[in-house]
Amino acid sequence: MKGKNIAIAVFSGTGNSLEAARALTAALTEMGRGVALFPMERSENHIRPDADVLGIVTTVACFSTYPTAWRFIDALPPGKGREAFFLATMGGFGGGMQGPVRHVLTVKGYRPIGSLVVTMPGNYGNKVLDEAKNKSLKDAAVSRIREYARELEEGTARWSGGVPVVSGFFAALAHGRKPWNMFRRIFPLTVAAEKCTACSLCVKLCPENNIALEDGLAVLGGRCESCQRCVAFCPSQAIYVPGKPSVQYRGTSLESIMSLRNSDCS
Ligand SMILES: Cc1cc2nc3c(=O)[nH]c(=O)nc-3n(C[C@H](O)[C@H](O)[C@H](O)COP(=O)(O)O)c2cc1C
Repeated sequence: MKGKNIAIAVFSGTGNSLEAARALTAALTEMGRGVALFPMERSENHIRPDADVLGIVTTVACFSTYPTAWRFIDALPPGKGREAFFLATMGGFGGGMQGPVRHVLTVKGYRPIGSLVVTMPGNYGNKVLDEAKNKSLKDAAVSRIREYARELEEGTARWSGGVPVVSGFFAALAHGRKPWNMFRRIFPLTVAAEKCTACSLCVKLCPENNIALEDGLAVLGGRCESCQRCVAFCPSQAIYVPGKPSVQYRGTSLESIMSLRNSDCS
C-alpha cells in the first residue's frame, strides 16, 4: 500500500463489522498509517479530501450486503487511481460478494489492493448465545485481520474470491427489495408497547431512518433491512420477533456504535 491516509467507510448492523474495522484500524495505525472511520449511512458519496486510500468494511447479508452499503459503494466518486481495500464479516457463507464490489471499484477508477471476508458470530435469531464459541470466532477473526493489515502494508494482499455468476446474481438481488421483504416476513420486527420507553435510541441508530416515535411508541416503517441494530441496542429489549424467541446479540458496545454513527468523514 502506497497511500498513507486511509478513510474507512463502515456499515455494521450489530457491531461485528465495526469491531473488525477497529481491529484493522489499530493494526494499520501501529504501522504508522493515519486511519479515520466514517459511517456509510451518513456520508454517501464522500471520502475525506486528504484520504489517498479507501477502505470499505461491511456486513454480509443475503450473500451480498445491505442496500445501505450498496448505495454508498454505487455512489462513490471517481477513484482517480486511489487504492481501495475491502473487509466484510459473515456468519458462514459470503457468496463471493467481494467480486461485485471489485467490479464497481474498478469501473470507477480505484485500484483494488486486497479483500478479506471473515467469520464472526451470527447475529440473527439466536436461541442461545454461546459466549465461548463467539469469543473464539472473534479472536480468530481479529488475528486474521491483523495479518491482513500486514499484507496490505507489505503489498502482498490479494483481492480473492467472487464466485462468477453466483455473486453477481446475489448482488443484483440485494440491490432490490425482494430479499429484505423476505427477511421481514421471516423475522417481522415488532415493538412491545409495554416495554418501549420511547427513549428514541432506535430512532437515532436506525441506518435507514426508518423508525419514528408515534404517541410514545417506536414505530418501524417500510424500509427495514433487518440489520438487527435496533434489536441489538434497545435498552429495554422492546424490539423482538413474535413467536420466535431469540436472544439479543450485540457485537460491540452502544458507545462504540454511537461514536461511529456520529462521526463525520470530513
Ligand atoms: C438479515 C441478515 C442476513 C444475513 N445474511 C448472511 C449471509 O447471507 N451469509 C452469512 O454468512 N451471514 C449472514 N448474516 C450474518 C452476518 O453476516 C454476521 O453475523 C455479521 O458478522 C454481522 O455483522 P454486523 O454486526 O456488523 O452487522 C446475516 C445477518 C442478517 C441480520
